[in-house]
Amino acid sequence: MSDFTSNFWSVYVAGITIAGIVGCLALLWFSGLSHPSAASGGSTGHVWDGDLREMNNPLPRWWVWMFIITIVFSVVYLILYPGLGSFKGVHPGLGTTKGTGGWTEVAQFEEEVAEGNAQIAPLYARFASMSIQQLSKDADAMKVGDRLFMNNCAQCHASDAKGGPSYPNLTTGHWNWGGAPDKIVETITQGRTGVMPPQAAVIGTPDDISNVANYVLSLSGTQHNAAKAAQGKEKFEAICAACHGPDGKGNQLLGSRDLTAKSWFLGRQDEAHVTAMVNGGYMGVMPTWEGKFTPEQIRVLAAYVWGKSNGGPAS
Ligand code: HEC
Ligand code: HEC
Repeated sequence: MSDFTSNFWSVYVAGITIAGIVGCLALLWFSGLSHPSAASGGSTGHVWDGDLREMNNPLPRWWVWMFIITIVFSVVYLILYPGLGSFKGVHPGLGTTKGTGGWTEVAQFEEEVAEGNAQIAPLYARFASMSIQQLSKDADAMKVGDRLFMNNCAQCHASDAKGGPSYPNLTTGHWNWGGAPDKIVETITQGRTGVMPPQAAVIGTPDDISNVANYVLSLSGTQHNAAKAAQGKEKFEAICAACHGPDGKGNQLLGSRDLTAKSWFLGRQDEAHVTAMVNGGYMGVMPTWEGKFTPEQIRVLAAYVWGKSNGGPAS
């Protein structure tokens, strides 16, 4: 209850609980009060349809006992368990009901987590002795990897890991940040931020930009204007090559894209797209997972991703 800023719900629930028990007691007491009078033969005196008399008989024994047992049970329960919450809001002198049994929700949760961890510990101990390559062929590891991926990565990279516009496809064997197992571990652990700053000011006029864009398209053999491309080559090599490499194949230290690839990561491959990149720049962020996952879980995830383009069972 300490997570709530007000004690309203505590008092509300406690009120209903206590009122319920008191109500049950009152009902029991009232039903015991009204004894059928012998003179009327147990009848209340109400008669319908000529001969249908309403009786006032005592409640059946079993029913009364069930009532008593219910009340005793709830009182015992409230003594053993923290059923009434905190009363600090009513009066600071009043505390939080704890229950003599010592049970708390947090303790139960922690116990269950510890139990779960103990169950999978031998599994991860086995994984620890395996390489990423071996893990990617291990059915148990890939089952765990699949679950982790579906729950944490699929919303961006899609459930088949093929990505979509602005989210990289992880199955092509083509990597912006490196596809060696330790590079993938690094990507997942630290996250990655790819920054392409706007370049329009350095390139010059819109014509210059159009020329560079056509040169870029020529690198992947995409439809382009050859005359313009020839004019754009020089500016590309002077400016863009610093990050994308002289051949346009990209630089995995910066996460810059391979512009010679047949299919681009942002999902479009035409002059308008290149021009937009040059004018506006772009920043792609892959979140960091350190702290959210244990290093062992990250190794399993890396193996799952690595296997997608290296013949793992998951590919
Ligand atoms: C400072 C480094 C840097 C420079 C200079 C640079 N880029 Fe980039 N570029 C990047 C990075 C990093 C990305 C990937 C951004 C991301 O999505 O994370 C990128 C992405 C791109 C893309 C997107 C490709 C795709 O997959 O859709 C294009 C097109 C591009 N750059 C063209 C150019 C051109 C043309 C120039 C020169 C005018 C240039 N870049 C200069 C770093 C650079
Ligand atoms: C919020 C969206 C998002 C989520 C969630 C996400 N990613 Fe990414 N991921 C990205 C983006 C965007 C990039 C590209 C970053 C860039 O270079 O611009 C990326 C890049 C990557 C890369 C690098 C690919 C390369 O070409 O080098 C790997 C590997 C990767 N993600 C794996 C994962 C895994 C595994 C998970 C789940 C634990 C995950 N991602 C969750 C958005 C996401």
